Amino acid sequence: MIILEVDLGERSYPILIGEGLLGRADVFDRHVTARDLLIVTNTTVGPLYAPALREALPRRRVVECVLPDGESHKTLSTVARIIDVLVANRFGRDCAVIALGGGVVGDMAGFAAACYQRGVAYVQVPTTLLAQVDSSVGGKTGVNHPGGKNLIGAFHQPVAVIADTATLESLPPRELRAGLAEVIKYGLICDRGFFDWIESNLDALLARDPEALAYAIHRSCAIKAAIVGRDERERGDRALLNLGHTFGHAIESATGYAKWLHGEAVGAGLLMAATMSRECGLMSDADVKRLAALLERAGLPTEAREVEAAAAFEHMRIDKKVQAGRIRLVLMRGIGESFVTAQYDDGALRRTLEAHFG
Ligand SMILES: NC(=O)c1ccc[n+]([C@@H]2O[C@H](COP(=O)([O-])OP(=O)(O)OC[C@H]3O[C@@H](n4cnc5c(N)ncnc54)[C@H](O)[C@@H]3O)[C@@H](O)[C@H]2O)c1
Repeated sequence: MIILEVDLGERSYPILIGEGLLGRADVFDRHVTARDLLIVTNTTVGPLYAPALREALPRRRVVECVLPDGESHKTLSTVARIIDVLVANRFGRDCAVIALGGGVVGDMAGFAAACYQRGVAYVQVPTTLLAQVDSSVGGKTGVNHPGGKNLIGAFHQPVAVIADTATLESLPPRELRAGLAEVIKYGLICDRGFFDWIESNLDALLARDPEALAYAIHRSCAIKAAIVGRDERERGDRALLNLGHTFGHAIESATGYAKWLHGEAVGAGLLMAATMSRECGLMSDADVKRLAALLERAGLPTEAREVEAAAAFEHMRIDKKVQAGRIRLVLMRGIGESFVTAQYDDGALRRTLEAHFG
């Protein structure tokens, strides 16, 4: 088992990564002290993993809340359902919520925990690659609004993240590839050596080699934990984690959150950020081509022709990253050298959108 720490003073917490952690009573006894527990999961993940999780929680009052599966259910009304279950069972402030599932379950369970009685403890038990490397760490919780993705939410840190890598065995291949987009993102943000490693080990990752996956999760979480530790509330550096996301969110909202997986949109968004960086004279053509080749090998999309460039631009303008009317972007001087800026040539953005959108 690998243990990392997210260092946030009194809100610090461990990230545990390992095979078979889900069923380990000793792990949960140590990291989850509450007696009353609500497991929030969904109709896909619950039948697969809730029984093992329950076995790891003897001598506790355990209630389950099983949500419908899918990003389209990541709404305030679904969160209200979680809160209804907490109220109906008279759970007090000393209870804990356990999020068992991917990023959608994690974001909603975390948000319900942030709101219920002004904040109760919650534990992330992520079961997708994307959730294990990204969404379970860092305390961003929330839901979508018809007007935009993740527009409603709160910062609320979990008390522990328990990532059982064995759960990835049942993950559909498309979901695995979507998670790889976020892994590639970390290399691009600040770790060229890790990017090189992903290039060399992509086949092992796609084949779900346990050692390769454990290393990719470990390295990704270490990078995210360090950035969140420096800037919990996204006043500076944390915005680097949005690399590819402003373009990606535009794809997701323009297509109604239905067709594209979040990680797929991020994958295409990463290449758009690279193209934009090249158009601004920052990134070499060789680095852009390396990224495009890696994304293609990973089976990730590199363009979104079904979305008009003008429509994409409109969606980017209502993104949360807009400040004083200007879209802030994460750009790169090269692989592993990203930075946040609102100072760029508008022509470069127009050319980037035209190169990747319809
Ligand atoms: N909070 C954050 O910091 C943050 C960061 C990145 C993404 N997100 C959010 O995360 C969400 C995407 O998360 P996701 O990619 O995990 O999607 P998801 O939660 O929808 O899970 C993907 C699919 O895989 C299924 N699944 C989950 N685990 C499984 C398993 N082990 N075996 C078989 N099937 C399994 C799910 O039921 C679902 O159908 C988006 O809503 C995004 O906004 C949040």
